[in-house]
Amino acid sequence: MPIVTPLKMGNKILLQIAEQVNDYNDESLNTIIQDMKDTMDYYKGVGIAAPQIGVSKRIIMYGFDKNPRYLNEKPVPFRILCNPEYIPLDNDQEEGWEGCLSVPGLRCLVSRFKNIAYKGYDFNKKEIVNIEASGFHARVIQHEIDHLDGMLFPFRTDNIKSLSFEDELNI
Ligand code: NI
Repeated sequence: MPIVTPLKMGNKILLQIAEQVNDYNDESLNTIIQDMKDTMDYYKGVGIAAPQIGVSKRIIMYGFDKNPRYLNEKPVPFRILCNPEYIPLDNDQEEGWEGCLSVPGLRCLVSRFKNIAYKGYDFNKKEIVNIEASGFHARVIQHEIDHLDGMLFPFRTDNIKSLSFEDELNI
């Protein structure tokens, strides 16, 4: 089951608090992560969270060099993180367009913290990593961690009138 059709908004799994990963060496993680990778690549996501493929575990994957869904954004290094957490580094927020493989065809302006520090268990490096990020990189992390807490981007907006079909926007 390499490429999975992402669950769509309305599916209850997307509204759940996902479970912590307790054993980083659990063999079943390899299959979940491969399915996430195949699905993210096929649907050209900048990130994906395990609940989007129906697995309610705290695993996210993200990163791109150039992405056709977000043409103007700078590259973000590829990583797979288990049990990720973030904290804002200051109170600065910025509004930006977001989309999601679980909300196909729609975009919305969402305010996110501009500068964050985040950490998690890096599945490739086999260690906890601590990273600072700003701008779109920070936005992707906040969006993906939201998936682990049952939050989708339209729930976050304070600008509901910006909710738009992609083909009506010039972004
Ligand atoms: Ni998403």
